[in-house]
Amino acid sequence: MSDTAKLNVGGKDFDYPVMTGTIGPDVVDIRKMYAQTGAFTYDPGFTSTASCQSNLTYIDGDEGVLLHRGYTIGDLAEKSSFMEVAYLLLNGELPSSDEMDSFNGTITRHTMLHEQLATFFRGFRRDAHPMAIMCGVVGALSAFYHDSTDIHDPRQRMIASHRLIAKMPTIAAMAYKYSVGQPFVYPDNSLSYTGNFLRMTFGVPAEPYVVNPVVEKAMDRIFILHADHEQNASTSTVRLAGSSGANPFACIAAGIACLWGPAHGGANEAALNMLREIGTVDRIPEFIARAKDKNDPFRLMGFGHRVYKNYDPRATVMQKTVREVFESLNVSDPVFDVALKLEEIALNDPYFVEKKLFPNVDFYSGVILSAIGFPTSMFTALFALARTVGWVAQWNEMITDPDQKIGRPRQLYTGPTTRDYVALDAR
Ligand code: CMC
Repeated sequence: MSDTAKLNVGGKDFDYPVMTGTIGPDVVDIRKMYAQTGAFTYDPGFTSTASCQSNLTYIDGDEGVLLHRGYTIGDLAEKSSFMEVAYLLLNGELPSSDEMDSFNGTITRHTMLHEQLATFFRGFRRDAHPMAIMCGVVGALSAFYHDSTDIHDPRQRMIASHRLIAKMPTIAAMAYKYSVGQPFVYPDNSLSYTGNFLRMTFGVPAEPYVVNPVVEKAMDRIFILHADHEQNASTSTVRLAGSSGANPFACIAAGIACLWGPAHGGANEAALNMLREIGTVDRIPEFIARAKDKNDPFRLMGFGHRVYKNYDPRATVMQKTVREVFESLNVSDPVFDVALKLEEIALNDPYFVEKKLFPNVDFYSGVILSAIGFPTSMFTALFALARTVGWVAQWNEMITDPDQKIGRPRQLYTGPTTRDYVALDAR
């Protein structure tokens, strides 16, 4: 592309600079467009709009590539740990072994919650959805940690980031414990981030809990796969909320609210529910037909993506992990066979081929989370736990971006023009 783009508005020509990143599509810088032309651009859902510059995560949707700071998701999932990925996203480079030890130590020492928060949990109904609890409790952190809310102080920002990453497993585990009526389990600093989360979730105070290394490894990998994903809806929500200078804990609560929706993080719960509803391979054609029927709102959950028009690389790793966990634990679930067959049928169906609809990260994640023992209602809470790393990294990047402004989209107004007020008794 040339280094300027020409636009003709109302018969007049305007030139706009074209910006080039390290990889990926160029962007046309239209920041001066409204001032010069009096026109806005129209882009519902931001399908063609870059809202920021970022050096964290790159996705090539056509090729099915996902990079964090230049490293492929396949390499990270295979060779690193979630804590390494968290460090990488926050700091830009993989840690040395001393840096890793120090980061692990910092995160571990922030895992406990203020004791008063346990009381806060008890205000929720026992049958509350864990995501409802997560939204409330994470938002409430803003009322507890006053020493880490000056967003202009890099040290306070980092403390808030570490607190969020560290406390999220404790909060998610407590949301689970609360729903099943079991006592909360306090963090154990001798365990890994993921092992500690498993113990807080599945352990009970009455007996020792031994972390299964296969499950720990699989869970850690699931966290890596969900750590960040560029400017998705919840990340954009965190950036937008943060752009006003809002409290960091409240911004992450906003991200959790957005993630909960079935078109986003809620799809993992919906995908497993769908697979269970299908139940047997012979019923797949019925559901494929429903997904293709324009008069039926049903969609194949865990299929399709705004950016990936190829196989989601996270789904590849997830499918492999299901096989590994099933083999190591010597378990199986008929729902996995349904998922594999459904994928095969869909990928050979012209509707899905033409629309470039492939399995996404949520298609297989439910199968594995269910095998580990999580109820479906916890699936999105686990996604939120892992994505917190991406949210805080993106939030930090936004605050230090010299181009950063309060997010304030414009609109095409289609309502009534000015009209006279009619008094109540005359209407
Ligand atoms: N099943 C059947 N048809 C679909 C599906 C699906 N899962 N996804 C998209 N389509 C069709 C859609 O009906 C539309 O058809 P047409 O052009 O004839 O109107 C076309 O494909 C394009 O869909 P869209 O809704 O305009 O695409 P989008 O980029 O706005 O939506 C999506 C992306 C992920 C919301 C959508 O594919 C979807 O609803 N998938 C199911 C939910 C899901 O799995 N979400 C998880 C996404 S990955 C994890 C995350 O980001 O949180």
